[in-house]
Amino acid sequence: MDNRSPLATETIERRPSLLFALPKGRLADESLELLQRAGLSVPVDTGSRKLVLPNADNSIGFVMAKPWDVPTFVEYGAADVGICGLDVLRESGRRVHEPLRLPFGFCRLSVAGPVDRPDTPLRYASQPRIATKFPRLTQEFFRKRGVNAEVIGLSGSVELGPVLALADLIVDLVETGDTLRANGLVEIRTILEVQAVLIVNRAAYQLKSREIQGLIERVRAVI
Ligand code: PRP
Repeated sequence: MDNRSPLATETIERRPSLLFALPKGRLADESLELLQRAGLSVPVDTGSRKLVLPNADNSIGFVMAKPWDVPTFVEYGAADVGICGLDVLRESGRRVHEPLRLPFGFCRLSVAGPVDRPDTPLRYASQPRIATKFPRLTQEFFRKRGVNAEVIGLSGSVELGPVLALADLIVDLVETGDTLRANGLVEIRTILEVQAVLIVNRAAYQLKSREIQGLIERVRAVI
């Protein structure tokens, strides 16, 4: 006898064979546009409150996730494939397969400080305070240079750090540089060149290799 509730049965039967985690926000439009160019039918109703959106033939379910959660969903296999920024992936330390760099989301993770900061090399600063959304990459960058930095984690508007004298320096993403300039800051060093990346769950890469390789090849063909 089948003891599963009707709801559980329905959930299992309707699950698309591939789950694709997409980042909501900045990378969302370009991700969908790329997948569309690659010939994938993507959900049109991305404004919906539903968080798993199937494509037309229900072969792929698109999981609309917070950008910082995409590597987590993919490492644990909750999603088979995903798109995220290299900044988020490296900060997360999640172990996933990275078959393709994608041609959007270009920016850099940089150390920046006040324009009028004394021109002292970073390694001579004694325990600088650094405000950032990337504590792990920041700690690693300064540790490798022998600088004992105090890293202060913020979740946004990191440029406020030096402006409000909370921190001496920041580590943050720079795209046009407008936000730095508007707050009297300049870039000092680049830590990481960033762009969007396609990531794949390691087990799924083996177990669903035909579908996933097909998807990778279609995307590769249009970039
Ligand atoms: C990002 C980043 C910088 C800004 C850089 O912030 O953290 O603040 O964009 O872009 P720019 O060099 O083109 O000025 P976001 O807008 O994502 O908001 P947040 O600061 O609240 O994270």
